[in-house]
Amino acid sequence: MKSARTPLVVANWKMNKTPSEAAAFCDDFLSRLPGLPEGVDLAIAPAFPALERVGRHLAPTRVKLAAQDVHVEPKGAFTGEVSVAMLTDLGVAMALVGHSERRRDRKETEADFSRKMKRLADAGLAPVYCVGETLEERDGGRTEAVLAAQMAALDLFGDALPPGFVLAYEPVWAIGTGRAATPEMAVDAHAFLRARLADRFGSQSAGGVRILYGGSVTPANAKDLFSRDEIDGGLVGGASLVPADFAALAVAAGG
Ligand code: 13P
Repeated sequence: MKSARTPLVVANWKMNKTPSEAAAFCDDFLSRLPGLPEGVDLAIAPAFPALERVGRHLAPTRVKLAAQDVHVEPKGAFTGEVSVAMLTDLGVAMALVGHSERRRDRKETEADFSRKMKRLADAGLAPVYCVGETLEERDGGRTEAVLAAQMAALDLFGDALPPGFVLAYEPVWAIGTGRAATPEMAVDAHAFLRARLADRFGSQSAGGVRILYGGSVTPANAKDLFSRDEIDGGLVGGASLVPADFAALAVAAGG
């Protein structure tokens, strides 16, 4: 039996789609929305320059606007950065934090993620916190230790998780490689993460958190992944760029 958690599929467009391309996607995808299952939540995270345009398309719909990142500070002399207040003003409902591409390229750490998530939560935005091990870490038997260390970023929350908090398990070796984790691997990791949440915040709070799987999710493998009780939907890169594919993922999660 599936859990009571509403499945969620989040499109992470990464550094793809100009504002015009994003608008064209919305025209196509939103025309498909009436045919998609209602029991699945959907969100799109465009690059910052397309947020406003996509937000205008999504505002009258049930699809939420998401951001790919946010800066730790509220405002000031931080050239090139984007604040929580700017996201709030654009109607952004949730933001990714801790994506492995930022861990790798920007050398961001749990301390940064912790502050970002606190900043988002204080403003009423839901953090989507991304965790996951590299291939070397998995092969070395260190997957659980790595995930546990990454969960330290939740320490600033005190005793309560912020409303709408989402966790995304994205094994680094599965991202953009065409080699998704097996459903069994994902279920094991999700169960471990939920147990950590329960230790820290109690089983009732932990039981309400949606844990998404990310890494080479496609319309072909989504049903097998999303039908597992522990997998509450997906955080999707490549396949979310194509309206028909993103719609198929919504069907796989909500069917
Ligand atoms: P792909 O779906 O392209 O593998 O990307 C996954 C991801 O990193 C989503 O955040």
